[in-house]
Amino acid sequence: MEDKAAQKIILSGIKPTGQLTIGNLIGAMNNFVKLQHDYDTLYMVADLHALTVPQEPKELRHKTLSIIAQYIAVGLDPEKNDLFIQSHVTGHTELSWILGCLTGLGDLSRMTQFKDKSSKPGANINAGLFTYPVLMASDILLYNADYVPVGEDQKQHVELTRDIAMKFNFRYSDTFTIPEPIIPKTGARIMDLQNPLSKMGKSDSGESGRIALIDDPVMVSKRIRSAVTDSGSEIIYSDSDEKAGIRNLLTIYTNLTDKSVPEIEKMYEGRGYGDFKKDLADIVVEKLRPIKEKHDELMNNKDYLESVLKNGASNAQKKAWKVLSKVYRKVGLVQTGR
Ligand code: TYM
Repeated sequence: MEDKAAQKIILSGIKPTGQLTIGNLIGAMNNFVKLQHDYDTLYMVADLHALTVPQEPKELRHKTLSIIAQYIAVGLDPEKNDLFIQSHVTGHTELSWILGCLTGLGDLSRMTQFKDKSSKPGANINAGLFTYPVLMASDILLYNADYVPVGEDQKQHVELTRDIAMKFNFRYSDTFTIPEPIIPKTGARIMDLQNPLSKMGKSDSGESGRIALIDDPVMVSKRIRSAVTDSGSEIIYSDSDEKAGIRNLLTIYTNLTDKSVPEIEKMYEGRGYGDFKKDLADIVVEKLRPIKEKHDELMNNKDYLESVLKNGASNAQKKAWKVLSKVYRKVGLVQTGR
């Protein structure tokens, strides 16, 4: 195996605002798992980002640990990856201040996610929601990450991160690596099962529109079987809005099996949606069963989870400080060592 120091760096994160869904799995976590073998990988739980929407403290703590347990349950090896909680590493918020001083208000107000979130009726539009992408840029740049595996909806935030990094490098000389997103070719945007024209979200989809990785199998099966499709009966992949439901189910199917979309279309030629949904429900249930089992076992072993987190944060902290101290020096802050 290649020397870790010579390896490219990967960072990504998930915010604990709800239960992880198969959208998170297909759009991001499957790549986290694939990339762990050949890169220096850091995967965090973005608990500070979660605070941009009101959270019940006890629940937030539980969801944060549950995501760490799900990271391990989907196959991330704590010996190979730095698994940590964002707030455990000082530097994310510190760098965020510095980068915030370089980021234009105009750039932040163009962020689609901010526009979507702030335009919802009764939205709590706080300053954190607005500066959210600057904290995300800090998460990435704090480790000089080369690649950032994410789903489609985070692409714009990674692009802003690149702009901020270039601005800093231009003003203060070469400091940050310019990161690139890694977005899956299919499944970068898994849609809500009841409303296949909008994204399946952890917290913004209705319960029947999403499938959580740790949902009860009976529920999972029911939700797939009652997913919205059209009045046709052919299982074919089409870009039309009318076929959005079946397209989404085909995307889930191909991502959770080793079968390509044309192979699946062929398998179901002349058969109806009912057969297809029933098979897909079984596939999803079988895929999630071991994840839920492992998650539940780990959640009963908090000592182990804590040891993983301590180790992950300690490794990440060392890497973070190297970059942050350089940044502080470059911008002109007096350093006496810490
Ligand atoms: P979050 O927590 O909303 O989502 C976590 C990851 O899952 C992807 N994703 C999806 N992919 C496909 N289909 C879907 N329906 C779907 N829903 C979510 C997201 O694109 C993401 O990759 N701001 C980030 C968290 C974050 C982060 C970072 C990510 C904080 N700091 C630094 C990368 C690097 C977020 O809210 O993702």
